[in-house]
Amino acid sequence: MTTPNADEIRVHVAKAYASRVNEFLSQPGDELDVVQAEDACCGPATESGDACCAPGEPAEFVISNIKKLYEGADTADLPGSVTDVAFGCGNPTAIDALQPGETVLDLGSGGGIDCFLAAKMVGPTGQVYGVDMTPEMVSLARANATKVGATNVEFRLGEIEHLPIPGDTVDVIISNCVINLSPDKDQVFREAFRVLRPGGRLQVSDIVWTRPVDESTRQDMEQWASCIAGALLESDYLDAIRAAGFVEVSADTSEYEGGNGVASAAVFARKPGGPHE
Ligand SMILES: C[S@@+](CC[C@H](N)C(=O)[O-])C[C@H]1O[C@@H](n2cnc3c(N)ncnc32)[C@H](O)[C@@H]1O
Repeated sequence: MTTPNADEIRVHVAKAYASRVNEFLSQPGDELDVVQAEDACCGPATESGDACCAPGEPAEFVISNIKKLYEGADTADLPGSVTDVAFGCGNPTAIDALQPGETVLDLGSGGGIDCFLAAKMVGPTGQVYGVDMTPEMVSLARANATKVGATNVEFRLGEIEHLPIPGDTVDVIISNCVINLSPDKDQVFREAFRVLRPGGRLQVSDIVWTRPVDESTRQDMEQWASCIAGALLESDYLDAIRAAGFVEVSADTSEYEGGNGVASAAVFARKPGGPHE
């Protein structure tokens, strides 16, 4: 097995998540006006599962209980097209309180669950942006925004390594189980630093390892899409955030039972400057 390169990883991950969206949309029952993305990476999944997309099943213990992850959060009015297509490993909007009027950016926004929670917290004077590289996810999230009537949320197609967002414009960056999927995490943290205003917060739920990972796991493409192979050792993750210029870097980490060193981390960091100094 050889180490997958960055392009192979991005293509594989995008196909895996497109496949999940198409799987959801192929089920009867949820009225949703999803505009098929022009550059969508695959067609709808067939009954036999023989779609052009990689199936990429998520690890059970990573996404097993979305309801539990969002205990206490205001998810009651979110439809299945949001909650059933949530693949997070924490609740980044709960790491630190979002304030009315703030501008929030969600890295790898998927079907939009954290954007919709953030939108309620920042209110009509605030603004939420979601960026995701999978066209099917962005189309689903836009349809979800219409469905839930969220007028202060905008979804943009793009890579978190090259954010389609101007510098020094964002108060809070959130992200849920995404940065582990990036083949260039240093670049993701540099971009996060660029777009945040001085004093802005980075509050991220993500998968990390509490012990070094063996090379065969690292090279297993299926395990990239499952949020396992690309996850960093916790100390390397925090060092990468510091190297991008962040301060006040901390993590609250809990290992999954039976995960052999795989853990969910709630990470906080701040860009220096602003009213906090
Ligand atoms: C595990 S899902 C999480 C989605 C969402 N945050 C949630 O909690 O439901 C990962 C998402 O990140 C997106 N993604 C992965 N790598 C990305 C990258 N390098 N740039 C932009 N989006 C990415 C995928 O398309 C997918 O929608």
